Amino acid sequence: MMEPLSSNLFHLISLFHMHITPLTADLLIQHQDSYLATLTTLSPPGEHTPESLVTCLDRMNAQGTMVFVAIDEQSWIIGTCSVLIEYKFNRWWSCVAHLEDLAVHPNAQGKWVGSWLIKTVLTYAEEQWCYKIILDADKDPAHVSYYEKFGFESCGAYMKITL
Ligand SMILES: CC(C)(COP(=O)(O)OP(=O)(O)OC[C@H]1O[C@@H](n2cnc3c(N)ncnc32)[C@H](O)[C@@H]1OP(=O)(O)O)[C@@H](O)C(=O)NCCC(=O)NCCS
Repeated sequence: MMEPLSSNLFHLISLFHMHITPLTADLLIQHQDSYLATLTTLSPPGEHTPESLVTCLDRMNAQGTMVFVAIDEQSWIIGTCSVLIEYKFNRWWSCVAHLEDLAVHPNAQGKWVGSWLIKTVLTYAEEQWCYKIILDADKDPAHVSYYEKFGFESCGAYMKITL
């Protein structure tokens, strides 16, 4: 399922200058500004205090969501992606992974940070014995084609009620 990383030297060099790790309360407090700046590329995260951020992270972790962050050589958070593991009665205790909130800081886009985050989430989902991974790419054709690079296929009908 996992594809090898690009052999493009420039991209590989970019990767060596960052690492990906689960987001912890300490990291969140320490890098609050760069994390919020990264999230802003997705949508405005609203007003936050260190306490509200940690409370939010605790709730996400408690419901089974793991938040991964990419950190550059200057210890700035430059990317994030979350994955929710949904357990099922069916399929012999297997589960479904939901990829959520992929965002890369504007200054770091185009350097494979998003690709590396997606590959991390795919590996994590496999380790959790998920039988599939799904995401909501809206209808933006550019986003759909981005995810297709990693093997995602459009399928079914996406429906919602905005509450
Ligand atoms: C979309 C986003 C996550 C991509 O992350 P990134 O680190 O800049 O992208 P990568 O460097 O990993 O891109 C890898 C490949 O996808 C392509 N790509 C990048 N952004 C793309 C986009 N929006 N649509 C289609 N292809 C895209 C790159 O050109 C590159 O192509 P290549 O393999 O031919 O070289 C990032 O630009 C972002 O955070 N955008 C704003 C938030 C957002 O829209 N999030 C929703 C995720 S779709």
